[in-house]
Amino acid sequence: MTYSTHVFDRFADVRVVLADPALAPQLPAGDRGKVGASVAWLRETVARFSFGEDHRRRRAMVAADLAKLEPATLRRLAMSSDGEVQLRVVSTLAAALGIPEPDAVAEAITVIAETYFGGNDAAADERVAWLVSHVEPREADLEVTANRIGLLVQACTATAALVEAASDSDTPLARILHESPPVSDMRRIAIRATRVAGRDIREGDVVLLDLVTAQRGHPELLTFGAPQRICPGRAQAVAVAEGLLERPRTAFADLHHQTSPLLLPNAWDHASAVALVAQGFPVIATTSLGVAAAMGVSDGAAETMEATLMLARRLGQSSIMFTIDAEGGFSDDPMEVAELARKLHDAGAVGINLEDGRGDGTLSSVEQHAAKISAVKAAAPSLFVNARTDTYWLMRQWDETAQRLAAYEQAGADGVFVPALSDPDQIAALSATVITPLNILYSPTGPTIAELAALGVRRVSLGSLLYRSAVTGAVNIATAIRDGKSPELAALSYAEIQGLADGATKPRT
Ligand code: HEM
Repeated sequence: MTYSTHVFDRFADVRVVLADPALAPQLPAGDRGKVGASVAWLRETVARFSFGEDHRRRRAMVAADLAKLEPATLRRLAMSSDGEVQLRVVSTLAAALGIPEPDAVAEAITVIAETYFGGNDAAADERVAWLVSHVEPREADLEVTANRIGLLVQACTATAALVEAASDSDTPLARILHESPPVSDMRRIAIRATRVAGRDIREGDVVLLDLVTAQRGHPELLTFGAPQRICPGRAQAVAVAEGLLERPRTAFADLHHQTSPLLLPNAWDHASAVALVAQGFPVIATTSLGVAAAMGVSDGAAETMEATLMLARRLGQSSIMFTIDAEGGFSDDPMEVAELARKLHDAGAVGINLEDGRGDGTLSSVEQHAAKISAVKAAAPSLFVNARTDTYWLMRQWDETAQRLAAYEQAGADGVFVPALSDPDQIAALSATVITPLNILYSPTGPTIAELAALGVRRVSLGSLLYRSAVTGAVNIATAIRDGKSPELAALSYAEIQGLADGATKPRT
């Protein structure tokens, strides 16, 4: 029986192939290996080459290990490591997993990585045997140990390739991943007959996926694969790469890489900002609706640039860490938006929100919004740019949302924001396509913060909710008093509000 090889190089076709359970990763040919002591055994036992129930169980083992690897910690460990890039990648991960002698582990993994995708080598088999006896914490279950070793092997060459490709520039990693993909092709084998993108594939046929061509002209990334088998180590890969590249990251950016999402309450004036910080919120955002409404103008109409700058300058005189909601930057000209960003940064802001929705209910073009993001990053590199797409406000398609976020990341956005998205499946699918922290607007009827965390969300904003609640509360009290009812009072005293102005005027250190 002769088998055919099918090549796919169109974005949509590659996604369909990767989602088809009849097309499984191909285990390299070779003898069955010695249990616990050979690369062949390792391949047979890891998630990477498994499918069906075996794959689900083994992928869960990898996920459990990855959950222990906080990206912010990896980044710091990677920075302080030394030696050759592949060795630094692996020793960073091994140290963070608590495996003893991470440097020796790294040397062993690089030898295994040479034959992982095919071939046999006695030296590599020896390293597997050594690692199985060495990997801590010691597991009764050899399958767990194999998948811990597999995680390190998977990370080794791909992450090093990303670092090499990015080492000569400060180009955003999202753009490097798009233009110089560390993983350029993938293989699948048909475990039963199937029909994909109009082609009949027989059992045993081989499918080759050309990721470089498929990704060209399409902003979304394929280099990490695609669900259901998308690389589970994306966040860790980016964190290790950033650490090795010594890319600077601010304290505010670090807050997006903790175990639970950053909860950002949105203030609309100095008093509301100070009152929130007094309750222990490490950083606050502003709400453009609150700033506009207080002035009697519409949100999104680009009329509040001066008021926004004034608020930033006032907050900048205090010890508060804050990020500014600047609508679409109050201009269509990227240079003017960059100038505003520089002023906000000079005032003390640590971040800016830039939205692609316009006051007239349309969206800016992707190119225009991406140009604003690039211009802002060039003018104020340490200002965290949270790129917002309003595709959901305006009832656009999920595909357009994913494409816009990918384009904004490649333009240099530090985070991406999709207000109005609250469907858990869509949030999970979106968080699997982005490489920067995903920001979601809290919805009282949507997922809880813990649920959002489990879906991969890294930042949750309260948007205009607090401002609207404050106005509603004031109106309720006034009408209750007018109507002879007892108002529900839970107000700060006059002196306490005065204290907010007095108590927060020291400059930030
Ligand atoms: C810390 C670094 C990394 C770790 C821990 C890691 C881990 C893994 C693991 C365990 C798998 C197997 C998942 C499964 O089959 O269910 C995998 C798959 C994959 N990884 Fe990564 N990886 C890392 C870095 C990278 C990088 C930098 C890239 C490329 C940009 C990459 C691209 C892929 C791809 C394309 C797959 C899917 C392969 C397939 O299904 O055929 N990985 N990764």
